[in-house]
Amino acid sequence: MKKIIKNGTIVTAADTFQGEILIEDGVITQIGANLNAAGAEVIDAKGCLVFPGGIDPHTHLDMPFGGTVTKDDFESGTIAAAFGGTTTIIDFCLTNMGEPLKKAIQTWHEKSREKAVIDYGFHLMISEINDEVLNELPHVIDREGITSFKVFMAYKNVFQADDETLFRTLVTAKDLGALVMVHAENGDVIDYLTKKALAKGNTAPIYHALTRPPELEGEATGRAAKFTGLAGSQLYVVHVSCAEAVKQIAEARSKGFDVWGETCPQYLVLDQSYLEKPNFEGAKYVWSPPLREKWNQDVLWNALKSGQLQTLGSDQCSFDFNGQKDLGREDFTKIPNGGPIIEDRLSILFSEGVKKGRISLNQFVDITSTRIAKLFGLFPKKGSIAVGADADIVIFDPSVERVISAETHHMAVDYNAFEGMEITGEPVSVLVRGEYVVRDKQFVGKPGSGQYLKRAKYNSNLPESENKPLSI
Ligand code: URP
Ligand code: ZN
Ligand code: ZN
Repeated sequence: MKKIIKNGTIVTAADTFQGEILIEDGVITQIGANLNAAGAEVIDAKGCLVFPGGIDPHTHLDMPFGGTVTKDDFESGTIAAAFGGTTTIIDFCLTNMGEPLKKAIQTWHEKSREKAVIDYGFHLMISEINDEVLNELPHVIDREGITSFKVFMAYKNVFQADDETLFRTLVTAKDLGALVMVHAENGDVIDYLTKKALAKGNTAPIYHALTRPPELEGEATGRAAKFTGLAGSQLYVVHVSCAEAVKQIAEARSKGFDVWGETCPQYLVLDQSYLEKPNFEGAKYVWSPPLREKWNQDVLWNALKSGQLQTLGSDQCSFDFNGQKDLGREDFTKIPNGGPIIEDRLSILFSEGVKKGRISLNQFVDITSTRIAKLFGLFPKKGSIAVGADADIVIFDPSVERVISAETHHMAVDYNAFEGMEITGEPVSVLVRGEYVVRDKQFVGKPGSGQYLKRAKYNSNLPESENKPLSI
């Protein structure tokens, strides 16, 4: 069925213009004025922005973690994502040491296949490099289209990999055409500081932040960036929270290292003081890396504006307050790390970023969609309003004012980390491959309709200059 979007303002990472979009068989076939719309369903986007669907490069759906499992699975998580204007996610597939990678990938397919309402791909966690892993990785890339690997430098005795593993992953990724992602915190020192805090009886949520100081994120970021330069490989630092890490990324990029940085909404608008909320409410704000002192927010906004950081992920990793976060009432190390954000990622960046003049509208599209598509082998099919691209489109009312609340959100959890925040702007309708998933703020999608995305190798589908870091 043909559709035509009329009367809206089309926004891409490069341009903003009035125009019409013709969609046929799920793909954008024409963009222009006064298009021949015979037989097409007309979508009136008057007063709205029309931009490419958000791509969330960082989600943890249905993931075992911290003695429990994240509350949002691929159904509730992708429904909430769609309400928030996200049409593609890339979720982290966890692996278990000593087990074949293909078993882990199979598990993730089973979790997602019949549930996702938007399109999705996987990153693959690497915790060891040995002959079995090295034998399997080419198939992971060629057969599964998984072209990004995740290495944790923290969570000692759980997910943490050692430096040799990180370095060998970088070398292997360079040869195979994959992008290495790191959780950059020094897990060994955090482990020591944590034990010391507990021994002193310091068990409250705030000690989560105090035992993970920004120096340890800066140190790990710098170490990973230096390894990347040495290996001549490529690196994407997830959930950058502080000035120390931004500095390391900027320094690496100024040397021409292929290093990229992602931040998340929580680091842009929340701060360390939230962990001190009474009645154990601080547990709602336990992320790793932790929320930082407020002044870091300006550093992160400036880094997004200047291009030192390039993307926004949600790091969706949701747990109920009652029954999950409260596993750590007596000991902050038992609070499952993470929060529910998949739904509010775009709206917060639009309201706090574009509306407040911190970034441009085109940067907003680049940061939430286009750059992510380019880095993760999805461009030009995803991340763009262009002829030939999938019709993953958000029709967004930029003027509506609303308040974020757990009472109205679509995530499965019993709280919202941004409860009471007044924001401007909201997706009205969201299409994935030309089909409505959200129509006039109502869910009309179908679990299982999301397609698994095999992604291209790093930089393989881009012109030479496209993903090269610029000297800043
Ligand atoms: O606290 C966080 N970030 N939880 C999710 C897991 C991770 O480290 O990304
Ligand atoms: Zn992490
Ligand atoms: Zn994460």
